[in-house]
Amino acid sequence: MLVLGLETSCDETGLALFDSEKGLLGQVLHSQIALHAEYGGVVPELASRDHVRKMIPLLETLLSQTQTKKSDLDAIAFTRGPGLMGALMTGALFGRTLAFALDIPAIGVHHMEGHLLAPLLSEAPPEFPFVALLVSGGHSQLMAAYGIGQYELLGESIDDAAGEAFDKVAKMMNLPYPGGPNVAKLAESGDPQAFNLPRPMLHQGLDFSFSGMKTAVLNQYKKIEGQGRDADLAASFQEAMVDTLVKKCVRALKQTGLKRLVIAGGVSANQALRTRLQEELKRIAAKVYYAEPALCTDNGAMIAFAGWQRLKAGQHDELAVTTTPRWPM
Ligand code: KG4
Ligand code: ZN
Repeated sequence: MLVLGLETSCDETGLALFDSEKGLLGQVLHSQIALHAEYGGVVPELASRDHVRKMIPLLETLLSQTQTKKSDLDAIAFTRGPGLMGALMTGALFGRTLAFALDIPAIGVHHMEGHLLAPLLSEAPPEFPFVALLVSGGHSQLMAAYGIGQYELLGESIDDAAGEAFDKVAKMMNLPYPGGPNVAKLAESGDPQAFNLPRPMLHQGLDFSFSGMKTAVLNQYKKIEGQGRDADLAASFQEAMVDTLVKKCVRALKQTGLKRLVIAGGVSANQALRTRLQEELKRIAAKVYYAEPALCTDNGAMIAFAGWQRLKAGQHDELAVTTTPRWPM
């Protein structure tokens, strides 16, 4: 079965082809980073317009790169939510309409399920059950995943998402959007012990709170001046973030008795987080799994793959186009 995946929930237009026999055939991605850069964040209306502009040319590129014809497609999966309403509508309408024209099924996929399942596309994929840490620009959640669609929420952020905190710290340091990778890069030349930042809720439960951590960075930023301040603050912030995420992951593994941890979403591309998790999980005879960096951030491959999992289970959408900007998983 050949599935076209479409991701348009935010600022990336991602398309991919997943073949149930051969795996991922190819993917194309257009990032709107340059478009939104001067505003310091994503402008929803500009995002929608750009998705509309790019979708058909990107599909043409994908089809020619993979030597596929539209008539070879067996199904279309698009991101139904959560995300920006207008941006979601562009992909949903395009996907549903193309499926209607080709007389094939279409399915709306949960964006975070796409992230959660992306590590299953790797060469040595994890088996169910596992604990999943989903850390993106809009979400920070710990889940127990027992199978496709069988997810139990263990904990989540009560304020900012992890990626959002990275982005806000970047913004205060005048680093370009999206902030996460830029803060991580700056942190490489800083001292992670330079500032003792708070780690809210570290010793209790599986929920997170990142807002105080971010505010503490801002306070230090205003108080101190001089060379090396930004790098030291970036490194100390990343250290506080990694400490918190790792501690909660270990607690979730212990609480559930599971031995596999999957990390997904944009922040799972963070190298400091990956390295620390590898070290810490070895101690408790558990293992961490993640997707290759290009599949950690938004992409069409994860949507094609998650859509296929759902289609395989006999699910598909009705003809009416549905988007769900706020959608618990
Ligand atoms: O999953 P994603 O691409 O989009 C959402 O669904 O939100 O995640 C984007 C988030 C942004 O906040 C970005 O700053 C963060 O992931 N991010 C990182 C890194 N790469 C992306 N944060 C920390 N370190 C990174 N290397
Ligand atoms: Zn995402």
